Amino acid sequence: MSQPVTNGRIYSRIAGTGSYLPDKVLTNDDLCRIVETSDEWIQTRTGIRERHMAAEGQTSGDLGYRAALRAMEAAGVTAADLDMIVVGTTTPDIVFPSTSCLIQARLGAEGCMAMDVNAACSGFIYALTVADKFIRSGDARTALVIGTETLTRITDWTDRTTCVLFGDGAGAVVLKADSQAGILSTHLHADGSKKELLWNPVGVSAGFKPHQTNNGSRILMKGGEVFKYAVKALDAVVDEALNANQLDKHDLDWLVPHQANLRIIEATAKRLDMSMDQVVVTVDRHGNTSSASVPMALDEAVRDGRIQRGQLLLLEAFGGGFTWGSVLIRY
Ligand code: UT7
Repeated sequence: MSQPVTNGRIYSRIAGTGSYLPDKVLTNDDLCRIVETSDEWIQTRTGIRERHMAAEGQTSGDLGYRAALRAMEAAGVTAADLDMIVVGTTTPDIVFPSTSCLIQARLGAEGCMAMDVNAACSGFIYALTVADKFIRSGDARTALVIGTETLTRITDWTDRTTCVLFGDGAGAVVLKADSQAGILSTHLHADGSKKELLWNPVGVSAGFKPHQTNNGSRILMKGGEVFKYAVKALDAVVDEALNANQLDKHDLDWLVPHQANLRIIEATAKRLDMSMDQVVVTVDRHGNTSSASVPMALDEAVRDGRIQRGQLLLLEAFGGGFTWGSVLIRY
């Protein structure tokens, strides 16, 4: 680990962003050939037009590694500079080692700490918070934070209520210690009592049936109920972030939301009195990529020049667990 900062207040700043989408695109029309649905239904109810799908053999680690390389290049850091790697994922390559360890080995970032965070769709918000705390404490100066998913591997292709929603991809940021904030606040929440509204019941010590050819690993969701909880929780968490920083909603330049459903994103934008021009939307092209959605949206808006240095960004997510949270950033 590199020398910790020991004097003055330390904050973390985003030094670079990156993302990676697998080549294969699955359109709504493609899905109409698999289940009874329509492009019109999917677009009206979710805002999704298409999503990307990992190639056979391509893992969350592969996607995350490529996103990481792009973020590191943008930040001007090498593997030797990294003090920690935190990966938000709910679709790890294997049970262990963690996907973060697999990515660390491929990067050649030998010796730095590496951990996965499973907070479903809030995975990147949770991972970014963990890295921010390490940097603020002086225990790390440079952190690589990744959100990466291959949700199409746990999609039930016979269930039209879920299979039209999910996609694959990865996003990453490099955080660096700085005397100027950077990340202004982080807020995380969870409510495990609602687990059966959005879950994948198959795991290792519960529900795993190795004698079956298909172990039944799949996303199950009661969409309507999740929708209601999501809107309420996101309203509360964006208010919480503004209040904690004594900011008015009109101070925000950008909302970078989790991309589950355009109608949920619009509800949060309305709460914040933001025009949709101030909201980064990728759900139309990416679908719901869980932990990867926020860092991919962030990277897109940074690279196309919409997000500028000095602007105020609010990142938020809600997902299985339930988990939800926000990160407020002076970019
Ligand atoms: O990322 C983590 C958090 N996840 C979320 O935030 C997701 C939250 N939920 C949602 O985004 C929405 O609830 C969905 C997009 C999943 C569903 O939209 P909805 O407006 O809540 O629809 P619904 O589940 O109430 O279904 C309405 C109708 C039903 O038919 P009936 O019972 O009214 O006859 C469904 O059977 O639409 C039917 N339906 C479909 N029709 C065509 C459900 N899925 C489909 C489909 N194609 N793919």
